[in-house]
Amino acid sequence: MEEKVRLQKHMAQCGVSSRRHAEELIRAGRVKVNGVVIREMGVLVSDKDMIEVDNKLIKKEERLVYIMLNKPSGYVTTVTDPQDRNTVMDLISEVKERVYPVGRLDYDTTGLLILTNDGDFAYFLTHPSQEIKKTYLAEVSGFPSKDSMNLLRKGVILDGRPTAKAEAYIVKSKAKSTLLKIIISEGRNRQVKRMCEKVGHPVISLERISIGTLTLGDLKKGQWRHLTTQEVKAFRGDKK
Ligand code: URA
Repeated sequence: MEEKVRLQKHMAQCGVSSRRHAEELIRAGRVKVNGVVIREMGVLVSDKDMIEVDNKLIKKEERLVYIMLNKPSGYVTTVTDPQDRNTVMDLISEVKERVYPVGRLDYDTTGLLILTNDGDFAYFLTHPSQEIKKTYLAEVSGFPSKDSMNLLRKGVILDGRPTAKAEAYIVKSKAKSTLLKIIISEGRNRQVKRMCEKVGHPVISLERISIGTLTLGDLKKGQWRHLTTQEVKAFRGDKK
């Protein structure tokens, strides 16, 4: 008997998008199963079913690909941009598989970004319940006091609710700014910048240097590499 999986999982396995984005596509009426528009979650499908997204047939990618990119400033982390800005896809044009960025970094934030066509991996990496640690180097203006550092650690109120406990360290002081290492396990919009702003030290520049067990190492800005099988396995097994 062929294996049946939920429609959104199947779409993720086909490299259409993350599971969550697949759910949005379904709700928007953009997905057909065997010629019929499906809007409810939970429909089970197999490889034998004909699935269309925006009237285009989708099928499973033969090869799952995992890419680590050191994103430079001046790129958006979406596949296309309505404002026609550079996207991170421009940096990986040699990759034949239909990968997409997992999670997001701001236009001016640099550093570690994962791209993949493995929807399950993307889901695992971004789902809040996994609490995967993301490490940032933030250059902030001024010199945060002990109290400010403790506030960053304990949580500040953003959008009416406190941020989860974080780690925050002073790496070094410069003439007019301070380099901080901040480790968070949530992924709210512009979280690090807003946290620092909230304690009175706006971010001058921001770089992500690790996600869970994955670290940038000496990958140069604008360069990318495939993750090794060991890295993918270690990431799933030991997420913190
Ligand atoms: N926090 C931010 O403020 N910006 C990013 O790009 C990532 C985390």
